[in-house]
Amino acid sequence: MPITDFHRYPLTFGPSPVHQLDRLTRHLGGAQIWAKREDCSSGLAFGGNKIRKLEYIVPDVLASGADTLVSIGGYQSNHTRQVAAVGAKLGLKVRLVQERWVDWDDPGYDKVGNILLSRIMGADVRLDPAGFDIGIRKSWQEALDDVTAHGGKPYPIPAGASEHRLGGLGFVNWAYEVAEQEKQLGVFFDTIVVCTVTGSTHAGMIAGFAALEEAGGRPRRLLGIDASATIEKTRDQVGRIARHTAELIGLGRELRAEEMVVLEGWAGDRYGIPVESTVEAIRLSGRLEAMIIDPVYEGKSMAGLIDLVTSGEVGTDSTVLYAHLGGQPALSAYSSIFDTR
Ligand SMILES: Cc1ncc(COP(=O)(O)O)c(C=O)c1O
Repeated sequence: MPITDFHRYPLTFGPSPVHQLDRLTRHLGGAQIWAKREDCSSGLAFGGNKIRKLEYIVPDVLASGADTLVSIGGYQSNHTRQVAAVGAKLGLKVRLVQERWVDWDDPGYDKVGNILLSRIMGADVRLDPAGFDIGIRKSWQEALDDVTAHGGKPYPIPAGASEHRLGGLGFVNWAYEVAEQEKQLGVFFDTIVVCTVTGSTHAGMIAGFAALEEAGGRPRRLLGIDASATIEKTRDQVGRIARHTAELIGLGRELRAEEMVVLEGWAGDRYGIPVESTVEAIRLSGRLEAMIIDPVYEGKSMAGLIDLVTSGEVGTDSTVLYAHLGGQPALSAYSSIFDTR
């Protein structure tokens, strides 16, 4: 079924803005660099990539008659903050399992930023000491059972809304939006750079751009930059969700390996811990473009973009679109990185 036939509950202002990063482009001295801004796409608690995924999940929530959204993420999860926002907007209760995931010692790591916003929006936030894992977790199953045991009707939304059967559709729509914006702007993005962790953002794009190519669109390079530091799990998850999403939208062919590229080299050793290239990318993006990016996700994909452009791996004749997926609220939980300068 084509993407236009799926129910979509609008939670965004409309297409997210696309603009040039001309000072960054000049500074790097290579490919033309543009950004598409999921951080500016919605009025719900600073927005971000999950809002788009939830646009396709909400119709199923409403049809189910559920009264409580149940989801999971790290203490500084952007995803759970966006679930809290959508729950508030729909008048649903929200139960969040917030696992520790990251050994980060900033005081207030479990109090400021995303988790603070979720609490402000009325979510029932429960902390759990477990470490990082993008898979399905026992604590989440237990939260679902607990809501039921207390007479509620839970609706399960897994980490990153990725292992949800509709989780990839939001970014299929994103790919179609890019194609429309290219027509309006008279530009073609031959390379797209996107951060990937739980996988459905990247996977949705893979399926969407494959469908556009099948409809006669020009081929392009879609480069996922791993920020999970558990690359094999992320590669598996991206591939699985991309194939499933492609089937949902009736692609009618197998996806090729070169359409599902996840690059490693910028995540560091552990999820959620910024490395030197992350911090440099955050500073550069802030100093040259006033474009704020975070230390967990976008700082890592921007570090990848910077290296790919400066090494010539992405050539000077390329026009690159950087998918900015949001995530800035976590910055205040990482303020110690910037204490000294
Ligand atoms: C700001 C930001 N960027 C990138 C990602 C990665 O997206 P996904 O989990 O769909 O791979 C996430 C969420 O995990 C995020 O919050």
